[in-house]
This record gives sequence, structure tokens and C-alpha cells, in this order.
Amino acid sequence: MSAEKTNQSWGGRFSEPVDAFVARFTASVDFDKRLYRHDIMGSIAHATMLEQAGVLSIAERDAIIDGLTQIQAEIEAGQFDWRVDLEDVHMNIEARLTDRIGITGKKLHTGRSRNDQVATDIRLWLRDEIDVIIKEITRLQEGLLEQAEQHADVIMPGFTHLQTAQPVSFGHHLLAWFEMLSRDHERLVDCRKRVNRMPLGSAALAGTTYPIQREITCRLLGFEAIGGNSLDGVSDRDFAIEFCAAASLAMMHLSRFSEELVLWTSAQFNFIELPDRFCTGSSIMPQKKNPDVPELVRGKSGRVFGALTGLLTLMKGQPLAYNKDNQEDKEPLFDAADTLRDSLRAFADMVPALKPRVEVMREAARRGFSTATDLADYLVRRGLPFRDCHEIVGHAVKYGVATGKDLAEMSLDELRQFSDQIGDDVFAVLTLEGSVNARDHIGGTAPAQVRAAVARGKALLAAR
Ligand code: ARG
Repeated sequence: MSAEKTNQSWGGRFSEPVDAFVARFTASVDFDKRLYRHDIMGSIAHATMLEQAGVLSIAERDAIIDGLTQIQAEIEAGQFDWRVDLEDVHMNIEARLTDRIGITGKKLHTGRSRNDQVATDIRLWLRDEIDVIIKEITRLQEGLLEQAEQHADVIMPGFTHLQTAQPVSFGHHLLAWFEMLSRDHERLVDCRKRVNRMPLGSAALAGTTYPIQREITCRLLGFEAIGGNSLDGVSDRDFAIEFCAAASLAMMHLSRFSEELVLWTSAQFNFIELPDRFCTGSSIMPQKKNPDVPELVRGKSGRVFGALTGLLTLMKGQPLAYNKDNQEDKEPLFDAADTLRDSLRAFADMVPALKPRVEVMREAARRGFSTATDLADYLVRRGLPFRDCHEIVGHAVKYGVATGKDLAEMSLDELRQFSDQIGDDVFAVLTLEGSVNARDHIGGTAPAQVRAAVARGKALLAAR
């Protein structure tokens, strides 16, 4: 690109062309061209409004809309020549419009600025992205509900400190992830309300002298509200930061989910089987089947946290109103949305295919003294204070470690060494089933409660 060919749209003020490197350095078209559809949508609404406001004639409006529609088709057919010397998506499309329809094309920008235009485009784009992302969340949640329902009776060890704690239903564990995703969904739906406010009409920063009717563009573009201050309208990027914050939380959840899948597919745990299509092998170790999808998602969470930190830093200390800094908002935002959407998609595809190794899980729960709390609770029901029960059971576990026996494997006489309050009804509470069934309240791990939670989850998804 030669310096002579650089952008002419502000040419009047300049006595020499922009330096060729500076033109490339300041250009954003390489990444903001993905806003083309929303840019054209915004321009069509703006032109429609300008006609109703008496600024454009009907013929001018129609020529503009027609030209923009054809430009969209050109772009989608891969026939559009994106020019770096035209800086960004907005000026590329406007220049092409003037090529196609002549002088009328130059009237489109009446009463607006790229400052309100770009803020409008990003919001329209992000609104669509959020809609796709929340559908993927729902799809993943549906998979979790199906699995939870099917495996409500499968027992695994529940962990604290990654040490065996108490037996839980595998379905119950799956539903913990369901809860996290429900909050992610709520957050994105809430964030969308603030994304969906219209800056168009703010113009460069102070509004415009033309008799624009912002209610019209607001309605045409499906915005929920009109931004109430033009300075704020062109400079506010809270909505992008908020999205990245919600996306970061969702990725943090997926990274925790990933970590458990990585652990559980290891030979040491061997709790679940991940179908081959979500794994890869090693180029050197023939025995390897690596859980690549969860590992990659765990790693990708960092990009999204980076986007959040980047955008907060971008906005910190910026004076009103628009500053060129803001051009830096797009790449992190795009990347955060792409990363979250793809990670959710991979998980939504993978979760229905997870297969628990029921016997391995059960054996692990049985081996880890996971019903020790149940024994203590049994003694409490016999009238002993909980602290004393805790100590009695501690001795029983110590004996079990020394003799290689789980609590349920000890004879009544062996158990009675630790308390004469223990009777032969104790074995009912020492079984895994007895333990999970006893936690029979809302949010507890009893299989009946898991099934009730699945039903609540299904109702929640049906109401979306
Ligand atoms: N490419 C610019 C951006 O992404 C568009 C707005 C430019 N406005 C300006 N006055 N230079 O922010």
C-alpha cells in the first residue's frame, strides 16, 4: 500500500498523506471486518430513520439500502476487497457504497460518527453472540440432567481436600456442575440487558444538529433502551467488560469440570471413560489416550481471564469521550466470546458420551472409610455427644487402617471394642446406600433427591 493511497475521508484537514506504516498501525479492518453484518444492519436502520426525519429522500434511502444489501452479499460471497488504507470496517463499507451508488452514498454518514457507529455495532454483535452462547449452556445442561437422571443411583466417593469424604450419588455430582451453569446463564441473560442499549445518535460525542429520531432506530434495531447521555454512549465499554467477567466465571467453572475429568480419566482414578473422539494419542507412547478436550478447555480459561484484565486496563483512567484506545476493545472481546462458545460446544458434545465405571467408583467409595460420619451420626442417635462419637469413630478408623478393613467389613464384636452402644442395626448405616439415602433433603445426595433436582432442572430449562 502506498502512502498516496491512504484514506481520503478527512483529507481536507491534512497537507500530507498519512505515513504508510501509521496507516497500517492504526487500521482495525483485519479484525473488525467481522462486524460487517451488524455494521450494515445499523446503517440500514440509520438511513431508514434519516428518511423519516426528512434528511434523506425516499429515493436516496432506497439506493442506500439497496447498495448496502448488495455489499453484504459481496462480502458473504468472498468478493469484497477489504482495504487497509480505508482503516476499518465502517469506512470500507461506506467507500464501497459510494463506489456503487455514487454521491448518495456519501449522505449515509449524516448525523452520525464512527464513534457511535462502532459502539452500536459491537453491541449488536455481542447480543447475537450471547444468544448463541446461552443456547450452548442450555445444551450442556440438558446433557448433565440426562446423565444425572440415568446415574442417580451410582455411588462414588465425594471429596474434600481431594481425600475421600462421604459417599455421593454420581448424579448429584453432575448436578453441582448444572448449578454452576445455571448461574452462568443467569449472569449472561442479565448482562445482555445492558448490552442491549443503543448508543446510536450520540454521534461523535455531543449528539447531532439533525432532527434524528432515536426511537425509530431503537425499534428497528431491537434495542431495549436508548442511551441517555451521548458522551457516555460513545465511550462506555462496561458491557464488554461485564460480558468478559461473566465469560471468565463460566470458563472458571469449565476449568474445574475439566480438571475433574482429567483426574477421573487417569489410570489412578479410572472413574469414567471418555470416548476416543474427544481424546488424542501420543506420538511416542503407544498406550496413551490423552483427555485433550478437557485439558485444552482448562488452558483456554486463561485467555478469557486475560481478556477481562485487558479490557479493565484498557478503560482504566480513560477521559471522556471516545479515545482511539477503544479500538483495542475488539480483539479480546471477540476472543473471549469465541473461546467460551467453542468450549461450551465441546463440553455439550462430550457430556452425553461420558460413561461412569460404576464398579470402580463404588469400590473407591467403599475403601475410603466414607461412611465414618454415618457411624458417628448413629452413635449420636444413641444419645452420645457428637464430639465423643467423632473420637470413637476415629479409633475405629485407625483400627481399620491397621487391619485393612473398612468399617462395614468389621464384625459386630470388633466394632463394639470402640463403643458398647453399637448394635447389629449399625450395618444398615455403614452401607453406601444407607449413607446416601439418609441425606434426604432438598439439595442432599439421596437418589430420590437427585431425581427431584433433575425434575426441577428440567422445569428450569423448559421455562427459558
Ligand atoms: N475503528 C474505530 C474503533 O474501532 C472506529 C471508531 C473510530 N473513530 C475515530 N474517531 N477514529 O474504535
